[in-house]
Amino acid sequence: MEIVIRSTPADVSSTVADIVEGYVRRGPATLGLATGSSPLGSYRELARRHRQQALDFSAARGFLLDEYVGLPKSHDQSYFSVIRSEFVDHVNLDPDRVLSPNGEGADIAGEGARYDAAIREAGGVDVQLLGIGTDGHIGFNEPGSSLSSRTRVKTLTEQTRLDNARFFDSVDDVPHHVLTQGLGTISEARHLVMVAYGKGKAGAIAAAVEGPLSAFCPASVMQLHPHVTVVVDEAAASKLA
Ligand code: F6R
Repeated sequence: MEIVIRSTPADVSSTVADIVEGYVRRGPATLGLATGSSPLGSYRELARRHRQQALDFSAARGFLLDEYVGLPKSHDQSYFSVIRSEFVDHVNLDPDRVLSPNGEGADIAGEGARYDAAIREAGGVDVQLLGIGTDGHIGFNEPGSSLSSRTRVKTLTEQTRLDNARFFDSVDDVPHHVLTQGLGTISEARHLVMVAYGKGKAGAIAAAVEGPLSAFCPASVMQLHPHVTVVVDEAAASKLA
């Protein structure tokens, strides 16, 4: 596992954009896209490189990590909408080639297996961006999630609903359920790139990187993966030994 400590959040975003750019310039790339606030600076930097440096996403495709259950795709906080407004709309990545779990279908229970099959049929994810929750979650795999889990429905903890209330009018509007790639699904991506900044993430980063491998820190599953890059600012690195 490679740990890259940069001085500022802007430097973190630029390093993550460098990694993604490398895949996009090498050929048709399958990008694993996270939502949440952590990757936003990297998405903005990639969009700038698209505009100013002809970074071409036309051959790329994308898979989202997760989606709320029961929130219409058209809702501005569905991850389907968020990834479009924050990234896809600003580059030449075909929106039809950016897939997310369908959180509003009739067969929610069957959606996980369908989504995993779609990722497999696409040849797997080349580079998976990951944020980390303050409780160590990745995707929406909350503490206690099986390290080999597949895409499935999960119930959000109250802490995560409170953390995400900032994107909604009130915490009552935050859905209780999500579809999330499992830890086993995420681990099949060929390169995991975790991005975190700020003191609030320092404990989770230390537990993920240096703590015991444990379902109680879902991000610790990265310790089993052969190709991981953790990109953090000094504040998020402050609890590393
Ligand atoms: C979102 C996701 C979550 C977030 C995590 C951190 O797709 O998978 O695991 O990455 O909740 O969120 P932020 O970056 O908003 O602190």
